[in-house]
Parts: sequence; structure tokens; C-alpha cells
Amino acid sequence: MSESDLPVPPIPNARDAVRGLRPSQIREVANAGFGVADVLPFWFGESDRVTPAFIRDAASAALAAGATFYTHNLGIAPLRVALADYVSALHGTTSPDHIAVTSAGVNALMLAAQLVVGAGDRVVAVTPLWPNLVEIPKILGAHVETVALDYGERGWQLDLEQLLAALTPDTKMLLINSPNNPTGWVMSRDEQRAVLAHCRRHGIWIVADEVYERLYYADATADADSGTPGADSRTAPSFLDLATRDERVICVNSFSKAWLMTGWRLGWLVAPAALMDDLGKLVEYNTSCAPAFVQQAGIAAVQQGERFTRELVLDLRASRDHLVDALSTVPGVDVKAPPGAMYLFFSMPGASRSLELCKALVREVGLGVAPGSAFGREGEGFVRWCYACDTARLDAGVERLKRFLAQRGTH
Ligand SMILES: Cc1ncc(COP(=O)(O)O)c(C=O)c1O
Repeated sequence: MSESDLPVPPIPNARDAVRGLRPSQIREVANAGFGVADVLPFWFGESDRVTPAFIRDAASAALAAGATFYTHNLGIAPLRVALADYVSALHGTTSPDHIAVTSAGVNALMLAAQLVVGAGDRVVAVTPLWPNLVEIPKILGAHVETVALDYGERGWQLDLEQLLAALTPDTKMLLINSPNNPTGWVMSRDEQRAVLAHCRRHGIWIVADEVYERLYYADATADADSGTPGADSRTAPSFLDLATRDERVICVNSFSKAWLMTGWRLGWLVAPAALMDDLGKLVEYNTSCAPAFVQQAGIAAVQQGERFTRELVLDLRASRDHLVDALSTVPGVDVKAPPGAMYLFFSMPGASRSLELCKALVREVGLGVAPGSAFGREGEGFVRWCYACDTARLDAGVERLKRFLAQRGTH
């Protein structure tokens, strides 16, 4: 038999765990908008503004100076020091030995999961939630159980007892994202305390996604918590305010949101020093390191960006309030102002089939919003709108929404 007579193997497939991943419904809606000439995109989690000039200049200078080589797996030393200072100022003493630089928040989430979970492990996640957090552990073969936030008069709330009951002793990892994408829910300090105590008791890892920690709009005085060393009203309550640096708590953070650096792909982890050698190996086999000139720009962001971030938060709060007011005038829309992140997650006529609704919105009136079902079963019935843009554009979007509802006769 010649080689050409050998049977051709069947068409190759990816592993079952990979084939079972949910495709992004936000992407599905965006695809439905291809060919629509004039779309107002509010579906992705990013601002319409470019990264501030002082950060872009730092990257240009680093490039001009030849910062084009591989770096240490865990990041260049000056950035780890700058991040340790930044985290210490917000959340209490943190050394560079507890910091690892990553290729943005999503890579930090993957690294954290790779450090902690393996095939068959039980993971608990609080939902609705940005889908990446739920899907990443599944790539590693873990089982993800979800605990849903409740929606009521006061907006989205955690049923703490339900979460604690789900955190059984055989749970490996809790994934919690606060301030939350998509709901804007913020976990309270007392809830964090109770969850930390419970996880300590059972040896459960907490992976806290705090990439929106600076996008927090609660009144500083209302949030005052003098009993918590390191707590700072510039950020949402953080597990870092309560945990020691050498227990089973890993905090994920990113340059994307507080400094408008989504396209740069830079983030960091705060994790026990004992993990760092193993984390370095994982970074090596995933990305090897974040780009050197991007890391240099990161130093400028954390060292010179405080004023920028504070102004950004004021702008975002004003945009949030503007959009809440505008949407409140639309009959059938139920919207509340959440305390964090940069999204409104609201119900409206037709949202009980939110994917169909969002595709129709983009096709018929060029309004690009994300379907609630993209964020888990309990997100169905809602639509997510990112308000990180100027108010004229928000108004134009609301006009399109009104036109759509009028065309459908629901308005
Ligand atoms: C909850 C949450 N975590 C992490 C990320 C990751 O962001 P990046 O990978 O740009 O740092 C995002 C981005 O939207 C997010 O919403």
C-alpha cells in the first residue's frame, strides 16, 4: 500500500472543553451590524477617548530609546516598584515581591486560573458577569457554578447566605468581580469580610477581579470605613484592604480602565510571594512578558496619572447620570444608577429576548448595545450600555432607541 492509499484521518476538532466554550454574544451583535453604515457603538467596555498624551509620550520615548527587548517574566523592576507603591497607597503595604506584570487583565485572569485550578475542580462565580471569567476556568477543565445577584428596588444585590452556601469545602476558587461588569454592582466591605472569613475556613482561593476599582462613584463620606487600614475612598472596597498579602487571595487589575489603555494590553496581579516563581513559569509559557515599551508607559500611568484618573471618574459619573436621566424618559425602560464600573444594565420592552433585540437595534437604527444574556442566564431581560463617551453621542443613542420603540409600536 502506498502512502497515498492510507485513510485520511477524520476532520480535526479542538478539545471538547474548547468546543464547549460559549461564543461571545456581544461579537454576534457586532457582526449583525456589519454593513450598517452608521452605527453608534456602546457595546464594548471602552471609552471613545484616546489614551492620555503623557502615557503615549512615555511609550514613544521608550521606543526611541530602544526598549524593544524581552523583559523579566514578572515585569521590569521599576514598574513592579511603581505598582507596589500605587497599591500600597490605596490598600496598605504591598511589596514588589507581590506584584506580577501581565499582558492586560484578561491574561491576568488566565494566569490566576492556571495557578489554582485544574481539570475537575469546582469554581464558583457571581453572575451576571463578563463572560471571560466564567469561560477561562472551563478551558482548564474546571466546573463553574454560578451564584446570581438579585435585582430589585435597590438595584443588584448579593444574597450573601446563598453565596456562602455555594462555597462548599470542596470549592477550589471563587471568582468575584467588583465593581461588576455588566451590572455596576459593588460588593460591600462587610460582604467581603464575611466571604474572606468563610474562604479562609475552607481553604478556598479568592480571585478578585478589581479592574474597575477606580471607577467608583459612591460618596466618599458614605463609604468611610475608618476601621479598615489601607481603605481609601478613591477605590471601591477591595479584598486587598482586608487580606494579608500571603494568603489565598489573588487580585487582578488592568491599565485598560483607569488610564484608558485598552489597546495596550497591560495589567497586573497582586498575589502571594510564594506563588511568584510558578507564576513566572506560567508567564513564560503564555506570553513570556509584556512588551518593554508598554511597561515603560505603565510607569508613567501609575506615577503621573492620578489627576487624570480622578477627572476621568468625575466625567464618567456625569455621563452615567446623564444617560440615566435620558433613558428614564423612555417609556418601558427601567434604569438605576449603579455605584461602579461604566455600564448601565437596564430592562426595556423586548429585552426578554435580549440577543434578538440587540441585533434588531443595530440593524434597524444603528444602536450598538450588548445583550444581557451575554453575561449569563440571569442577565436575560437586560441590555448593557457603556456610557464612557461624550453626552452628545449618548443623546443620539437615546434618540435612536426612542425611534426603534416608536417603529415597533411599543412607544
Ligand atoms: C470584569 C473585567 N475584567 C477584566 C477585563 C479585562 O480587561 P483587559 O484585558 O483590557 O485588561 C475586563 C474588560 O472589559 C472586564 O470587564
